[in-house]
Amino acid sequence: MLEGRSILLIIGGGIAAYKAAELVRLIAKSGGATRVILTKAGAQFVTPLTLASLSGNKVNEELFSLTDEIEMGHIELSRAADLVVVAPATADLMAKAANGIANDLASTTLLATDKPVLMAPAMNVRMWLHPATQRNLETLRRDGVSFVGPNEGDMACGEYGPGRMAEPVEILAAIGDLLGAKGMSKGMSKGMSKGMPMPPPAPIAELAPPRRGEGLLAGRHVLITAGPTHEPIDPVRYIANRSSGKQGYALAEAARAAGARVTLVSGPVSLPAPAGVMLVKVETAREMDQAVEAALPADLAIFAAAVADWRVREEAGQKLKKDGQAIPPLQLAENPDILARIARHPDQRPPLVVGFAAETEKVIEHASAKRMRKGCDIIVANDVSPASGVMGGDRNLVHLIAAEGVDTLPEMSKAEVATALIRHFAAVLAGRKES
Ligand code: CTP
Repeated sequence: MLEGRSILLIIGGGIAAYKAAELVRLIAKSGGATRVILTKAGAQFVTPLTLASLSGNKVNEELFSLTDEIEMGHIELSRAADLVVVAPATADLMAKAANGIANDLASTTLLATDKPVLMAPAMNVRMWLHPATQRNLETLRRDGVSFVGPNEGDMACGEYGPGRMAEPVEILAAIGDLLGAKGMSKGMSKGMSKGMPMPPPAPIAELAPPRRGEGLLAGRHVLITAGPTHEPIDPVRYIANRSSGKQGYALAEAARAAGARVTLVSGPVSLPAPAGVMLVKVETAREMDQAVEAALPADLAIFAAAVADWRVREEAGQKLKKDGQAIPPLQLAENPDILARIARHPDQRPPLVVGFAAETEKVIEHASAKRMRKGCDIIVANDVSPASGVMGGDRNLVHLIAAEGVDTLPEMSKAEVATALIRHFAAVLAGRKES
């Protein structure tokens, strides 16, 4: 898969650095070559010797090494590769790259490179969700940097949430995607590194061409929420609902296939991350609200998540025990209504805001009232009564409710519904209705 391809791997500092060794092994197994830049912090977690043995190449560590500069200077190092991969991409490395800071070999190389860059972020969940990191992420995306992960899970620091580095196989798949989609033959990439004027790194939307939907959303940013939220009661229990996230994930794939840059903010689901989509995994409604805010601005926002309306007022610090006394009462507090808030956002309301209405009776009537109450442009209404089989199932029958009236789509698979909806939203955005 990667025969003749050369990857420059920058390894940042973090517990995930040990997975970088596995990535080097996988690249070699796929026929690719890896040169490694190991940051000082990265060297605390994985040794240069391990990486040199796996890659078969000397590992580069210091910026000013005279012999290295004679053998292969840092500029040449960054240009001889087909792709620069940063794994783990720490908050610090992302901040430097977003701001053009070049004060060590890794950051200098990132500033000097003229090749596509793929980052696999890994950091504590609060660091990841911090507005500074989310701002840097947005800047880097605008600069054409691609991302894989981070994934959600238990973290080395004992917390849970988005921040775990994508698995080496996922990073390998993203590398294949980027290099494959760019269609660079070996000869072309060699020619380009010999001083021909280089095009700027292509943004991700150009790297993987749309598969269906004819690029209707090219150049647009689509923000989608999906899945349930989990509202903790104590460290081991939570309030949840039956949402599988399938419809939201299918929408993310369809928007991606239509050429959009997609941010998918997802509650806990057991679905694989859609390729080429920026996946931000969250647990609670409040985390989802923050992640949505951080992802603005967007051209189209689709709220397909089944957000819990209430959370437990005070999460117990320890597991609640049956102690023979009265059953503990659950005091609830209302969660933020993310859709309603974004639909009335004072300065960053997306031009098209779409909500979902999951109803079990009087579907159109309730959904129409919900559209007015929430202030969104379109409501996609569906019947989620147990008899419909929609919750958790693969098929869906939806009604599109807008100011102009109601359209009912035929029953289809969730993937087909997603494609039909994306085509419709793209048409509305483009200012014309599809016939
Ligand atoms: N939604 C949201 N934030 C919430 C609740 C809902 O963003 N806290 C969004 C959902 O993603 C969906 C729409 O609002 O797009 C409608 O969700 P639903 O749960 O059906 O609406 P509710 O406001 O909960 O109304 P009700 O409980 O009366 O059905």
